Amino acid sequence: MNYFLDSAKIDEIRYAYKNWGINGVTSNPRHILASGKPFFTVIGELAEEFRGKDFPISVEINPHLEDTKSMVADARKLAAMSDNFVIKIPCIEQGLAAAKELVEAGVRTNITLVFSASQALQAGRIGAEFVSPFIGWKESSGEDCTAFVGDIVSAYLNYAIPTKIIVAAVRNGKQIVEASTAGAHIVTAGFDVFKESFYHPFTDLGLQRFRDAWDKTDTKG
Ligand code: E4P
Repeated sequence: MNYFLDSAKIDEIRYAYKNWGINGVTSNPRHILASGKPFFTVIGELAEEFRGKDFPISVEINPHLEDTKSMVADARKLAAMSDNFVIKIPCIEQGLAAAKELVEAGVRTNITLVFSASQALQAGRIGAEFVSPFIGWKESSGEDCTAFVGDIVSAYLNYAIPTKIIVAAVRNGKQIVEASTAGAHIVTAGFDVFKESFYHPFTDLGLQRFRDAWDKTDTKG
């Protein structure tokens, strides 16, 4: 399963690329705001950083747009900035129509704000490259998402739909593992979520025990 970093902060993206081998980035308007930089400055930096590399970077269209024509125009403008840019389109009817047009024109798309398997099915039917089911938001409101992701995986397998599933809004290591056992292609999570998922206190405890043993051993002979 590939790991994407859900962030627009260039420092943490560079760190995660170098040290963790992340395979892509997903951003959204809240991440851009959190970067503290203007929209085009941030996405320009990301385009430059990964120029010439195969590294999908999801960039979302203006969320105020509600008609298909304006969505297509905004998406085309963003897509023209980098071959790596995958344009995030909200999963509303006009957005799905925009994405269909964009797919036909060869623009890379990621259908975002997906909260049901029926939404994901339509994203797959129109040929979106990626679909982003948000599991954290659903689980915060008390829903279990194991079946949700599994249903999308099964539906896509049944019809050989090549759309890649990015399990999004991931809050902890358990959700990362559940995404992998359900068969998702990608998980996108924030910097701290990934960092904590690599940690276990028993690893530290075991390391200390091994260090103690090492210190009492004649390691010269
Ligand atoms: C995914 O592509 C989204 O950017 C992200 O997961 C949104 O959710 P969050 O900001 O609540 O984590």
